[in-house]
Amino acid sequence: MERILILDFGSQYTQLIARRIREAHVYCEIHPGTMPADEIQRFAPKGIVLSGGPASVLEPDAPRPDPIVFSLGVPVLGICYGMQLITAMLGGTVGPAHAREYGRAQLEVVGDGGRLLAPFAAQRRLDVWMSHGDRIERPPAGFTTLARTENAPHAVIADETRGIYGLQFHPEVVHTPWGAALLTHFARAICGCGGTWTMASFVEEATRRIRAQVGAGRVICALSGGVDSTVTAVLLHRAIGEQLVCVFVDNGLLRLGEAEEVRRTLKEELGLPLVFVDAKARFLRALSGITDPEQKRKTIGRVFVEVFEEEAAKLGRVDFLAQGTLYPDVIESMPVKGKSHTIKSHHNVGGLPERMRLKLVEPLRELFKDEVRELGRELGIPESFIARQPFPGPGLAVRCVGEITEEKLAVLRAADAVVQEEIRAAGLDTRLWQAFAVLLPVKSVGVMGDRRTYAWCIAVRAVESQDGMTADFAKLPYDVLARIATRIVNEVPKVNRVVYDITSKPPGTIEWE
Ligand code: XMP
Repeated sequence: MERILILDFGSQYTQLIARRIREAHVYCEIHPGTMPADEIQRFAPKGIVLSGGPASVLEPDAPRPDPIVFSLGVPVLGICYGMQLITAMLGGTVGPAHAREYGRAQLEVVGDGGRLLAPFAAQRRLDVWMSHGDRIERPPAGFTTLARTENAPHAVIADETRGIYGLQFHPEVVHTPWGAALLTHFARAICGCGGTWTMASFVEEATRRIRAQVGAGRVICALSGGVDSTVTAVLLHRAIGEQLVCVFVDNGLLRLGEAEEVRRTLKEELGLPLVFVDAKARFLRALSGITDPEQKRKTIGRVFVEVFEEEAAKLGRVDFLAQGTLYPDVIESMPVKGKSHTIKSHHNVGGLPERMRLKLVEPLRELFKDEVRELGRELGIPESFIARQPFPGPGLAVRCVGEITEEKLAVLRAADAVVQEEIRAAGLDTRLWQAFAVLLPVKSVGVMGDRRTYAWCIAVRAVESQDGMTADFAKLPYDVLARIATRIVNEVPKVNRVVYDITSKPPGTIEWE
């Protein structure tokens, strides 16, 4: 298989390099910058990208790739720190920039721009995005300068005979408008990749790999109703048929009508072998009296594991646990990134594989979220299901502030159904990352008819986001907000006030708990 190797030196943009190359239908993987030589050889890349990173090659312990990257005879592209590595390792000079360059800059093409800039050189001046402290003072022997900026006399360098290229700017970010085309040009024309990587080819390849890994074993898969676990299950079902069993646990913390909708889609439309477990009462009992958010999350995780284990035990021998792990999770746990501080515990099924002594099957671990959606379409999963907004594992429990009771859940479900209906009616559901209701068990005074009311409050939360890591509150039209407020107060008993959450993330989180 044709593939590009991206060696990561810790840039916040490394994932974007991978996405841009995959958008060119060329498969690529991110590995730590310090990947050992034998593993690089086994990977057999058609080209190598050295990412940017926060270090300076002028520091003694700056991370470096194994020098084998320069002698495999495949093209190498260094971006920012990656370019400085090329310069330092091949005998050029790197120095601190006289003026640090951050943000937009103009790239001026020198001469014909060489092979790398050939498709773009006619423009002479190109907008680029810079973010660097060091710069190239003198390129290594054999290198020519293809472009410069005001503060970087060697902003693009190349050794055409060896196929080694360096860029001082970031082609992977949207602020370099022609950057995606440049990365496509590198992967296709310079590395010679055919651009044949599609979801159809991924399905074939993944099916082969799943069969090879699982053999005659049995696989259990926890379905949540979300896109990732559904796509995982459908892909596995296609590969191994009835060797797969799916378990869906109704924890009583789902939205109105959701458990039934999920059951119908998964079982009847998609034909998955599904065990449906009604554990509503058990979760409610376990949650009774608990008000602390982390305690709620941990309790839900623990009860889930218990229920799941009991169901698995009824199935006899099981060898594998299937999980919808995605590429960002894999990258986040790579050593260069380090462990970030836990804000909320997100592991919905924490510790399950270890406890059950099951081996893991993770067929989506190389894919990004939008690629998973594309895969879902390829596998024939209904669009309504694929376009679903994310829903947290602990469900309505983290949207019902304080203790969870059946009464509060019923109020929250009814209010949330209004939010869902109105957002959909306004055609906003696919434009928003999430929109939902939160129940605040705070009472305030109101007046309905001629009667005084004293009842709970609903907060409406709607956010726009790319990945859930950061988010902006959505500027919903006032008439949509007004309809939501009117309907909730009129239709949902025990609520007399609606507020709109205008906090972005950071500093707020998307969910309230
Ligand atoms: P926060 O509240 O941390 O949420 O800003 C970011 C995104 O993650 C979702 N979320 C979860 N997803 N299990 C999940 O699978 C969880 O425990 C969990 N908690 C939050 C949240 O809905 C938002 O999209």
